[in-house]
Amino acid sequence: MAGLQGKRILLGVSGSIAAYKAAEWTRELVKEEALVQVILTEAAERFVPALTFAALAGTSVHRDMFADDPEGMMAHINLSREADALLIAPATAQTIARLAAGMADNLLSAVVLAARIPVLICPAMNSAMFNHPATQDNIRRLRQFGYRVLQPGCGGLACGEVGDGRLPDWDEAREALLSLFAPTDLRGIKVLITAGPTREAIDPARYLSNRSSGKMGFALARTAMRRGASVTLVAGPVALADPPGMEVLRVESAKEMAECVFARSAQCRVIVKAAAVADFAVEAAAEHKIKKTGTGLQLDLVKNIDILAELGSRKGPRQILVGFAAESREHLQEGTRKLQEKNLDLIVINDILGAHSGFDVDTNQVTLLDQNGSQEIPLLSKEDTADRIWDAVCALLSSAGEKRSG
Ligand code: PMT
Repeated sequence: MAGLQGKRILLGVSGSIAAYKAAEWTRELVKEEALVQVILTEAAERFVPALTFAALAGTSVHRDMFADDPEGMMAHINLSREADALLIAPATAQTIARLAAGMADNLLSAVVLAARIPVLICPAMNSAMFNHPATQDNIRRLRQFGYRVLQPGCGGLACGEVGDGRLPDWDEAREALLSLFAPTDLRGIKVLITAGPTREAIDPARYLSNRSSGKMGFALARTAMRRGASVTLVAGPVALADPPGMEVLRVESAKEMAECVFARSAQCRVIVKAAAVADFAVEAAAEHKIKKTGTGLQLDLVKNIDILAELGSRKGPRQILVGFAAESREHLQEGTRKLQEKNLDLIVINDILGAHSGFDVDTNQVTLLDQNGSQEIPLLSKEDTADRIWDAVCALLSSAGEKRSG
């Protein structure tokens, strides 16, 4: 099942101006086909009426421990039993204090106290309230309980001040939510991923490049992060925003990508090269824009360094090196050749001629090839494909561990 589809999310909203953003989040969750139940505190309802959430979630909203429970069905216990995760957004200083004290004096706090499901808390408040030692102590306590508490964003607040206290972005909350459901088999593993194309300058206005959008590499970075890895993403020029929670380094040319990767590769246990690195660069890029004189233009190209092959020759005994192969024919032969020649542990072969695989599209169809043989992966979203790649990497990591201890 992809993303949040089918996940039963219990959304607890407390009284902050950011409650209107929780209404937007409800919409995002429903768009992803999550099943949303909403609990509003009394203060939340002053900011956004229950009807708004009911209309967006497509179900009635829970507000009151007793009014919601006319038949004595114990709503405060059952609501979390029927959910996969509890998301509290926005969580005000008051709600955070209530939860840290283990109180059960409204429906939301009673539900949290009775919950045996993962809890994700997204604070939003004035920055002085957030930075107050009482709130900081309460947040520490919530983390000790095993709840995941996101750091609020920094910026202009509704009160007119600038500082910490903004509700985190939906993208960040979504990632944190997904990580609650992901395996933690990459926890503590340092991973370096490259993504996107490189650009090789012809003159200040023009360049040579390719059709890579970065979607595959970014999907690998997001999914690795959810599975607990510490991720460095080296990205060529792409239109995608930095995924939250990781180190993102933007580069332009193959030379820049090589320098950036080589400076970090020795510290990484797993390296995945999903980038479509330009094989050639213009020997001497023109300093000024080339004029349209004459009948044509001759460009002298030189071969770029093969970053992956170089990583293969430097590979440490504990490192796992994964390459990609963008192929339009003889996929398996070409993949096998690259696996051997570049000293890889795994190669991901994608068919770049398939209408739904390879460059730019949101899906991919790949074959995974290692020393033990090949495995065909069906057409999946790039995120699901990325998860299959991490499954294969985890198998390699554990067999490497077994070999060492055996
Ligand atoms: O970015 P998307 O739009 O989502 O598209 C994804 C993708 C098709 C770009 C991606 O899945 C993919 O196949 N990436 C590798 C593209 C490529 O350069 O393939 P290749 O067969 O030419 O190179 C083989 C491997 O060597 C790759 O891992 C590549 O990163 C690496 N390489 C190649 C040349 C070079 N100079 N240095 C390298 O490190």
